[in-house]
Amino acid sequence: MSTLKTEIKLSEYQAPEYFITDTFLDFELDFDKTQVLSVLTIKRNGDHTKSLKLNGENLNLIKVTLDGEELTEDKFNITDTHLIIDEVPAEFTLSTLVEINPSQNLTGEGLYKSGNILCTQNEAEGFRKITYYLDRPDVMSTFTTSLSANKKHFQYILANGNKISEKTEGDVQTVVWKDPHPKPCYLFALVAGNLDVVRDEYTTSSGKKVDLEIYVDPGNSDKCDHAMLSLKNSMKWDEEVYGLEYDLSLYMIVAVDSFNMGAMENKGLNIFNSAYVLAKKETATDYDFQGIEAVIGHEYFHNWTGNRVTCRDWFQLTLKEGLTVFRDQEFSSDMLSRPVKRIEDVLTLRRHQFKEDAGPLSHPIQPKSYIEINNFYTSTVYEKGAEVIRMIHTLLGKDNFRKGMDLYFERHDGQAVTTQDFVRAMSDASGVDLEQFKLWYDQNGTPDVHVTSEFINGKLNITVHQKSFIEGKEVTLFFPFDIAIFDNNGKKLIEERLLIKDQETKKEFNVPSDSIISLNRNFTAPLKVNYEYSQDDLISLLDYEDDAFTKYNCAQILYKSEIQNYVNAYESNTDYDVSNDLIIALKKILLDDSLDKAFKSYLFNLPTESELNEDLKVYKIDAIHDAVKKLSISIAKNCEDEFRRIYSSINQIEFSLSSTAMGERQLKNTALAFLAKLNHNSDLVKDHFLNASNMTDEFSALSSLVRNDLDYKNNALQSFYKKWKHETLIMQKWIGLQASHHNTTIEELRNLEQNEVYDNKNPNLLRSLVGAFANNVYCFNKIDGSGYHFISEKISEIDKFNPQIAARLAKFLNHMNRLDEKRSSHLKSSLDKLIQSNLSNDTYEVVQKNLKG
Ligand code: TRP
Ligand code: ZN
Repeated sequence: MSTLKTEIKLSEYQAPEYFITDTFLDFELDFDKTQVLSVLTIKRNGDHTKSLKLNGENLNLIKVTLDGEELTEDKFNITDTHLIIDEVPAEFTLSTLVEINPSQNLTGEGLYKSGNILCTQNEAEGFRKITYYLDRPDVMSTFTTSLSANKKHFQYILANGNKISEKTEGDVQTVVWKDPHPKPCYLFALVAGNLDVVRDEYTTSSGKKVDLEIYVDPGNSDKCDHAMLSLKNSMKWDEEVYGLEYDLSLYMIVAVDSFNMGAMENKGLNIFNSAYVLAKKETATDYDFQGIEAVIGHEYFHNWTGNRVTCRDWFQLTLKEGLTVFRDQEFSSDMLSRPVKRIEDVLTLRRHQFKEDAGPLSHPIQPKSYIEINNFYTSTVYEKGAEVIRMIHTLLGKDNFRKGMDLYFERHDGQAVTTQDFVRAMSDASGVDLEQFKLWYDQNGTPDVHVTSEFINGKLNITVHQKSFIEGKEVTLFFPFDIAIFDNNGKKLIEERLLIKDQETKKEFNVPSDSIISLNRNFTAPLKVNYEYSQDDLISLLDYEDDAFTKYNCAQILYKSEIQNYVNAYESNTDYDVSNDLIIALKKILLDDSLDKAFKSYLFNLPTESELNEDLKVYKIDAIHDAVKKLSISIAKNCEDEFRRIYSSINQIEFSLSSTAMGERQLKNTALAFLAKLNHNSDLVKDHFLNASNMTDEFSALSSLVRNDLDYKNNALQSFYKKWKHETLIMQKWIGLQASHHNTTIEELRNLEQNEVYDNKNPNLLRSLVGAFANNVYCFNKIDGSGYHFISEKISEIDKFNPQIAARLAKFLNHMNRLDEKRSSHLKSSLDKLIQSNLSNDTYEVVQKNLKG
């Protein structure tokens, strides 16, 4: 049985009892045996006699001294998690010497080895695995770091801030770094290894020169151009939009292959999952290029929203993450296409966050308690958090939002603050009352909005009714809700922003009785909108609307109702074929050359099986799978000529990453994906594969061959493997594609695990096999329970060395109460078995919540 796990509560926050003002660290680096000497200047906070309790885990303590005197063992206490010293003066210097073993650390936290690189990951609580410290974000200190290492293995040794000295004695190189900006220890970083470096520079708007350096594994320096360009664009964007300049003379990014998340914003020394740095057209898809731009931006923007102003405690995580996601979304919108970016962001939110918020792991963007903070780096804290910031932006307007940001930095630069502080700055700067709005921070579960319309006395009456709860009690949220009304010729009669503050809001409009209303345009609020649309109205709106998101949304609703019809037919053993009116509308879109190509392609993005099941009380795994398949084949058959026309009309001569060029590739590959549903097009797909000159085309074609089991499938999988087996990022795609196949078997997964390119200690590879399979709704939920069994077996295995990743996988087992009896009992027994094993805090917290349902 698991031991008792303690729950940490927001309501129990206490200010630190001691502060650390200056930190000096001296590392003697080695893969297996690293020594860390720490010298801390500590000051008591207020007047008290409480003992000093430093965090520390898996450290081998060699020596402690206080004000220069070595402490004997009776003067301190060591537990599994702390170093405790009972009597300390009001001000003193504490020094510890510890030894750690980076190469045995497979957790992806603290100091660890990725390939031949030593690197760190300290957010949220990894620093305690490096040395004894007050490991909490409201303890901010300046850091000076001295690093010594054998220069044969570690040509570059990096830490935060500026390099202040370096020397070499024999084989040993020593470099000293100093970061002048006080920071919490979660932002500390060091890297050591034999690396290639790509250099550039940037001049800030006030004329300061900043050196830019990207460090990668030897041989990868030809894949850094896009990351470097994205970094320079980010720096410029933050100056232009927020007046924020970079504050050191050096900015370093290091790419590593083993990383638990996307990237980390360590001050002046970002560490990245190599998937978000390395790209050239032959190896990376357009989707990858866009991910790189977004993540480089995200980490750069953290320099102000996260680092200069940080979080008081980890319950405030959305303060930095929601805001920084909002900023990176806006950056990407400005770099590429704003309407398309909005569609993508809403799509991600609905697929992941809505699902999370509807299940047993639902929580507010500011959680009230946790066992393990790592479990709260969620799409709720990040993406819903960004939507909450976006609503503030909408309510205040661009100029007032900027004033609010300015005031936030004026008040809180150099501080560790709360979400309340942020909202207060926004409302003080703008004069907009945000008291009621703050409920968004405490509310969980996607709010439901019911809209009805009625024609009374020649006027159109629209009623908006909201339903939302905090801990079971109904609350009334404040949010913007954009609507429009069109007449039956497509003329826009009304465009209005409703400010919803009540349970029920009624509004009267003087418009003709056959007008069509459009709701929550541009997804102004993160809600589920219920309104009884007729198919005719939706098809008209799809045509009339000029808001891209709403157009996309109309197509989604239309597809969902088609799928419902297919499901009904499946259940009653009858036949159904797609509505002719929908086909006519789709053909019209395909033939409309004035539409943006990426946008057009999104209109043909069918809802996923996961999303469709999520709309049902009880999942219908088989019926939904069958329905989606039939709908897509039917669209392919009916629009074959139009898809073929698009396919052959787009011919690129030169590769470019402009939004136009990417849109062309996206649309062409969407056309190909539909054509590939028809067996007689298999040669076309094969040729596309063989003639591809970039990864976007090559992988799209491979996916189409594999997903549709076309003739050339196995040849293609093999030749792709041979060509790319030395590129782990590409092998991740190759594995992911096979693990996502609708007929994949556990045996095939086990074979992939045996492949020489696979390594279960690498989080990306784990995600590409185990994660992709858990996302494969049809196979994962197989009626015999084999999918649940496989995933839980992997969770136990992985939990022994990387609890963070194991817990993230355990989140896939969260739908016990949404399944039919058979599946549900299989899933329950998998969860029961897990909870009885010896789990980490991380995985225990998730499994236990999933079992409670
Ligand atoms: N702060 C990082 C980001 O969003 C998130 C992150 C990176 C992280 N690595 C992590 C969080 C490891 C928890 C654990 O940019
Ligand atoms: Zn972040």
